[in-house]
Amino acid sequence: MNNVLKMREHTYLANTYNRFDVALKYGNGVTVVDDEGKEYLDFTSGIGVCGLGHSFEPWVKATTNQLKDIEHTSNLFYTEPMVDVAEKLCKAAKMEKVFFANSGAEANEGAIKAARKYAFDIYKGDRTEIITLKNSFHGRTLTTLSATGQDHFHQFFDPFTPGFVHVEPNNFDELANAVTSKTLAIMVEVVQGEGGVIPLAGTYLQAIQDICDHKDILFIIDEVQSGMGRTGSLFAYMQYDLKPDIVTTAKGLGNGLPIGAVLLGDKVEDIFEKGDHGSTFGANPVACAGANVVMDYMNEKLYSNVLQMGDRLTTKLKEIPQVIQVDGLGLMLGIAIDPSINARDVVNACIEKGLLILTAKDRLRLLPPLVISEKHVDKAVAILADVLADQVKG
Ligand SMILES: Cc1ncc(COP(=O)(O)O)c(C=O)c1O
Repeated sequence: MNNVLKMREHTYLANTYNRFDVALKYGNGVTVVDDEGKEYLDFTSGIGVCGLGHSFEPWVKATTNQLKDIEHTSNLFYTEPMVDVAEKLCKAAKMEKVFFANSGAEANEGAIKAARKYAFDIYKGDRTEIITLKNSFHGRTLTTLSATGQDHFHQFFDPFTPGFVHVEPNNFDELANAVTSKTLAIMVEVVQGEGGVIPLAGTYLQAIQDICDHKDILFIIDEVQSGMGRTGSLFAYMQYDLKPDIVTTAKGLGNGLPIGAVLLGDKVEDIFEKGDHGSTFGANPVACAGANVVMDYMNEKLYSNVLQMGDRLTTKLKEIPQVIQVDGLGLMLGIAIDPSINARDVVNACIEKGLLILTAKDRLRLLPPLVISEKHVDKAVAILADVLADQVKG
């Protein structure tokens, strides 16, 4: 890539990202192109964002038309795009109301605030704890870092937000023991994305639902990574018999523009009163115009493609000798590889061969656009198989 760009980045950007040596310039469907004209099959979708593919024509049209109409207004006024997306989300998810934020972390902050306000209103300050899971990831703000159940995120930035208790996923006894008279909510990802793409057991999710139902504890599901069709349904929780009180989404909702949403169920639909929460950019009309297009494509045809391509990928990946295990749901897949192989080296070698993939902890992670076809799956698996075989040869 262009070394001058790399040096300028190093000079002027905060040193927070370990970027790969690729400068991307264009995107179209499942393909992205770098500054030297090299094409890549994009099995990252910008970390689970561009589910409908890059520069998806109806999305480009809707957002650019909206830009020409009005690019922004404050939340002191009404706009049609925000009401349209909210209505579509509520009807599709069987939730009551929506608060719009700009990212996953912000959506989770909103969810945590809504849950704490419920505890304040109903339990007058007696309930102060939210149970989250070890190996979870809920965002990078101080409170969502505190919610995140991974110790290495709990350093450098003290003091963290109190009020979070972390328990081992899929351990029923530990969960039951952690629930006390102080517990106000239980918050989980149905599939732990950053934690390695590990789905929770359906029986465990059901146990959480039962505890929440019996003790009036709020069930918060973070669908920031697993939502918007990624797992073969609008939200992953819909594949289980669950009725969360609060659901968060972001990433794929915008397909490339920043938007997050907190979906509020009947217990908490009126918990926020005027002035309790807000955001300058939340419900931005251009982002909402894009999200409206995304919502219009959330249908059985797309979900069925996600499930079929997910199955094909999983089956073919399992045939690669260096692949030890494939976990996930739909097109959210984590691949455990031979421990002698370094996942980041694999990503770099895939880049060389024209395939973009991700890591999650020591695993490989695939989050391709939801619109991929068999030829994309086959090409990606062929490149990955070659790369893994080369890594073993050294
Ligand atoms: C499950 C989950 N929650 C929250 C977040 C944070 O989202 P954002 O980076 O948009 O703030 C992420 C990001 O990866 C995520 O995977």
